[in-house]
Amino acid sequence: MLCLGIETSCDETALALVRDGRLVDQCLHSQEKLHALFGGVVPELASRSHLTALPALLECLLERTETTLGDIQVVAAARGPGLLGSLLVGLGMAKGLALSLQVPLVGVNHLHAHLLAAGMEQDISFPALGLLVSGGHTQLYRINSPFHFELLGRTLDDAAGEALDKAATMLNLPYPGGRYIDALATGSTPNPTLFPRPYLDNRNLDFSFSGLKTAFSQFIGEHPQLRIPFQADDAKLRGWAEAHPELGTVCASLNWSIAETLRTKVLRALNDGGPYRSLITAGGVAANSMLRALLTETTQGHDLELILPSPGLCTDNAAMIAYTGWLLAEAGWHHDLTVEAVPRGKPIVWDYRRLPDDASAKPVCLDTCRPPN
Ligand code: KG4
Ligand code: ZN
Repeated sequence: MLCLGIETSCDETALALVRDGRLVDQCLHSQEKLHALFGGVVPELASRSHLTALPALLECLLERTETTLGDIQVVAAARGPGLLGSLLVGLGMAKGLALSLQVPLVGVNHLHAHLLAAGMEQDISFPALGLLVSGGHTQLYRINSPFHFELLGRTLDDAAGEALDKAATMLNLPYPGGRYIDALATGSTPNPTLFPRPYLDNRNLDFSFSGLKTAFSQFIGEHPQLRIPFQADDAKLRGWAEAHPELGTVCASLNWSIAETLRTKVLRALNDGGPYRSLITAGGVAANSMLRALLTETTQGHDLELILPSPGLCTDNAAMIAYTGWLLAEAGWHHDLTVEAVPRGKPIVWDYRRLPDDASAKPVCLDTCRPPN
């Protein structure tokens, strides 16, 4: 079964084809430069850019894979959470394609797709503990099956990626700055006393990163020489970092505070709610070297497999949407043309329908597959 995936939930326009659970190819147009001018994503510009980029991306993907529209058997699109205007562009295109091609339409939960994406690279054993760390979300899930996610904890304010991006802006690094902080930290030893590890003094699995952001802001206020005095690109930044090793220490320490906070809550979830057979870490911040290293170290003592998608699958992409859409369609789940886009902050309910006379659909037990309310 060949599934086309469409991702337009934020500032990446992406299309991908997945056949029988394997990625065929993907195309991505990043709006990073467009929004960098404003220090954050401008929703109106994002939707307009998705609208203009999608047709060319589709043409490019079909040409590269020597596929025709008629070969597509399922159309999947991110239906939320995300920027409403942006989601509407991708979902609208998916509806048009599904209608004209007369194939099933599957709206995909962007967050679940992040966590399931690694399934394209390796088998995932369930139940899995899922840590999703992106620019908009920091969440812990118990994942009983690809279709049954239980939310265990979430951030009460800023997401981990948001804290990194805001800290990067304070250093005058380009937006989104998580990957620059990561790069600047490479080779430096963190100082664990520099920044707090926030919201650990409790028994829950929630997160709060706004205090860390404030602490970082105060620190930069006291050490203004750390601000980079020019608009950095990768090459210039390398030179500057070599001449200013203290910047590396600060970035490594910030990375450590965030990664160690995440690690502590992961350990708590493992101890409180197990047994789990695997730990999946996904979302843009899962590309962070410090977090990957700490989680690798942590899972060594536990009888569970650490699943870290390759960095290209951590940040927003359409392969994860096509793959999750394929999983759902294979199991017989789909949407009709009334499926709605869901903005960030609103719950996404399980509103899939069964394909009525699809003999190939595998039976799915509602008890295990239906997400709890
Ligand atoms: O999942 P994603 O691409 O988009 C959202 O759904 O938010 O995540 C984007 C976030 C941004 O905050 C970005 O700075 C962060 O992921 N990020 C990183 C790294 N690469 C991307 N953060 C830390 N280290 C990285 N290597
Ligand atoms: Zn994302």
